[in-house]
Amino acid sequence: MSVAVFASGAGTNLQALIDAFRAGGIAGRIGALISNNSKAYALTRASQAGIDNYHISAKVFPDPGVFLEKISNVLSTHAINLIVLAGYMKLLPIEIIKRYRSRIINIHPALLPKYGGQGMYGINVHKAVIEAGDTISGATVHFVDEIYDHGAILIQRTVPVLPGDDPESLAARVLEVEHRILPQAVGMFL
Ligand code: GRF
Repeated sequence: MSVAVFASGAGTNLQALIDAFRAGGIAGRIGALISNNSKAYALTRASQAGIDNYHISAKVFPDPGVFLEKISNVLSTHAINLIVLAGYMKLLPIEIIKRYRSRIINIHPALLPKYGGQGMYGINVHKAVIEAGDTISGATVHFVDEIYDHGAILIQRTVPVLPGDDPESLAARVLEVEHRILPQAVGMFL
């Protein structure tokens, strides 16, 4: 089974997957990494791991038809069975969501359905959790459909919100859990 990872940033979730596959815990391989951000360190991590990686963005391919074709070509060239969104800040083209229905998962740094949806990404999520005075937070892996952060939940794990927490310290605690549940979810799926 072959996995395509989409990432926009540092790629620590990608790295957790690379390490898990390398450890042999998961039957399959990461066939490709796609990023919309040419400066994403995720691209470097993929190169270092010998994974084919592609910078495909609406800026470079403003025509939606061409953009869709570029992504579709990578997915079919690598015979992808599962798409993993690991800190991917864009919505996938609706055609891809339809074609890969129930074969796209996303990692979100909160306990969905709370703190999900438009604008709820990265540090904004942790700011909202702290401002709400919640005492627990966590991470969620869920199936992707046409609505942001809406699909069925695959795995969820909690972390405490500690009295002295600021968004950064909470983000770090949640990120650790992300790195554990994402490989678990991919392993379950494959
Ligand atoms: C993670 O917090 C993830 O939950 C969110 O974006 C961040 C990605 O981090 N969607 P990284 O690029 O995997 O380090």
